[in-house]
Amino acid sequence: MQDETAPKFTSSFKKEVYQGLTAYPKYLSSKYIYDKAGDKLFQDIMAMPSYYLTDTEFSILEKHKEAIASYFSNGNSFFHLIEMGAGDGKKTKILLRHFTEKNIDFTFKPIDISQNALDSLKQNLLREIPQLKTEPLQGTYFETLETLHFSSGERKVILFLGSNIGNLLHEQAIDFLSKVKGYMQPNDLLFIGFDQKKNPQTILDAYNDQSGITAAFNKNLLVRINRELHADFNLDNFIHWEVYDPETGTAKSFLVSKENQKVRISDLNLDISFEAWETIHTEISQKYDDKTVQWLAKKSGLQVITEFTDSKNYYKNYLFKKSI
Ligand code: AVI
Repeated sequence: MQDETAPKFTSSFKKEVYQGLTAYPKYLSSKYIYDKAGDKLFQDIMAMPSYYLTDTEFSILEKHKEAIASYFSNGNSFFHLIEMGAGDGKKTKILLRHFTEKNIDFTFKPIDISQNALDSLKQNLLREIPQLKTEPLQGTYFETLETLHFSSGERKVILFLGSNIGNLLHEQAIDFLSKVKGYMQPNDLLFIGFDQKKNPQTILDAYNDQSGITAAFNKNLLVRINRELHADFNLDNFIHWEVYDPETGTAKSFLVSKENQKVRISDLNLDISFEAWETIHTEISQKYDDKTVQWLAKKSGLQVITEFTDSKNYYKNYLFKKSI
């Protein structure tokens, strides 16, 4: 039976904000950080020296591009390179350029929710690698994968870079990987970046910059709620706080209320009370080790074929296939 008293929501943003801020403890989903301002703040994060993830994955792709090419092209056979969450393609370009120089036969199919991001990526690739066959696909990952139909024998290599998987709880990651596996044929490959456990201080420094960029990135959730749902969050009344648990490998971000306060969210007809030092959990950034990745793979019906890492073992890109 349907609960007649449950509020009806006209968007998943409204629904999730309502659910998260009326729960105890309070939470908001990090996926809503990424509007235009959030995308820009994430670009700024990636440019921070303390945010080692981007440069490290870059260095892995550069160092291992020959071996990666040989796995992907499997003895020089044609494949479709499908990237989930392509963004500006900065890292992928290392592979695209190398594959093109080596006359490897492939098409590049970046999937992104943002048509804007895809348009500028396509322009950019046309200018920088004119021979490349790029076929951008706008939409969510799984809805888009669903629309792709290839003739039998055409191989797919699916890319998911940036340790984006780390923003999912293990249970969600297993669900995600199982779904991806559902689109894979026995000869298809999946290539994913996983940030690794390391000195806890290095991890805290990456998510706790003194310049306030990561704080602004998290607070962008409140900025969006203010603008899009007509709320009156005072950003100065919250601090950003990061913790890292070296046992579980989970970095957690919070916004912490500095005082007792009330916030009105007009579009939800909702008043939220905060006690002093009450938290809103905003993001997890999971760090991994080989055992955990093997476990995730097994749970999802995948098998690790090989892995590539950097000189400090800060980060790894694993190559998977479907288990038989
Ligand atoms: C996108 N994602 C992998 C980033 C991360 O490292 O969890 C988002 C981020 N949050 C704070 N800094 C960067």
